[in-house]
Amino acid sequence: MTRPPTPAAGARRLRAPAVQALLIQAIAFPLTLGIVYLCARAGSTVSYLDVALVQGALALGLTWWRRLAVWWRLIGFGFPLALLGASSLAIAPSVFLALFVLLLLLYWSTYRTQVPYYPSGRRVWDAVAASLAPDRPLRVIDVGSGLGGLVLDLQRRRPESRFEGIELAPLPWLVSYLRARLGGSRARFIRGDYEGLDFGDYDAVFAYLSPAVMTSLWSKAAREMKPGSTLFSYEFVIANAPPSRVVTPVKDGPPLYLWDF
Ligand SMILES: C[S@@+](CC[C@H](N)C(=O)[O-])C[C@H]1O[C@@H](n2cnc3c(N)ncnc32)[C@H](O)[C@@H]1O
Repeated sequence: MTRPPTPAAGARRLRAPAVQALLIQAIAFPLTLGIVYLCARAGSTVSYLDVALVQGALALGLTWWRRLAVWWRLIGFGFPLALLGASSLAIAPSVFLALFVLLLLLYWSTYRTQVPYYPSGRRVWDAVAASLAPDRPLRVIDVGSGLGGLVLDLQRRRPESRFEGIELAPLPWLVSYLRARLGGSRARFIRGDYEGLDFGDYDAVFAYLSPAVMTSLWSKAAREMKPGSTLFSYEFVIANAPPSRVVTPVKDGPPLYLWDF
């Protein structure tokens, strides 16, 4: 399901803010070493804290120069200090490794997609269920299905219809897959990138993603979705594409936007 990366996709990955932030730390490091070397030659004593501050200041400057969002400047500056603080806690390397693997399996491509995992909830599922055409069997997909809550819930409510989820990150996908298998649900969970799907195969596409991807999601939906189908986006609207309907699942909470094709 996941296509091999093209050269353009490789370049896109390099432009991802998290990758740039990492490259900035890598570029700042030899510069920091150079500054520390010159200070030592001039007879100054340099502590680890000084090194972290110099590295952080260089990273902050480079982050500003690359015009990354403001919070990346704070992250760039704070990262070496956080590393120094963490190393002083004397936590076993195996604990770091285990945490790293867990976060990797949970977030996977978030560094590139800028869409982390956070769940919608029962009130949103109620609103989606109430907005689906009631009079015919449907084929519906949740793009970025997380732990599978929405898909499993809708499949329970509408056994005559077919509900699917597609998820990039291995751990949430595995949880959703096992929930379906162990719970006897006919809901289907695919591990992969929704970019590789044809939205024309579905009567409804549900997305709870992030502002970073809404324009490209809209281009794909406008290209592929068939007449009579509906795109749902919880919380995130699409610039220059007014929705056909807006529902508010939770009073004063984020809206659920619908575009009817
Ligand atoms: C905000 S969560 C929403 C989870 C679920 N839809 C819900 O309503 O509870 C977004 C999920 O989309 C996944 N995701 C992000 N980009 C994706 C992509 N291109 N293809 C498939 N899944 C993606 C993330 O890994 C994350 O689990």
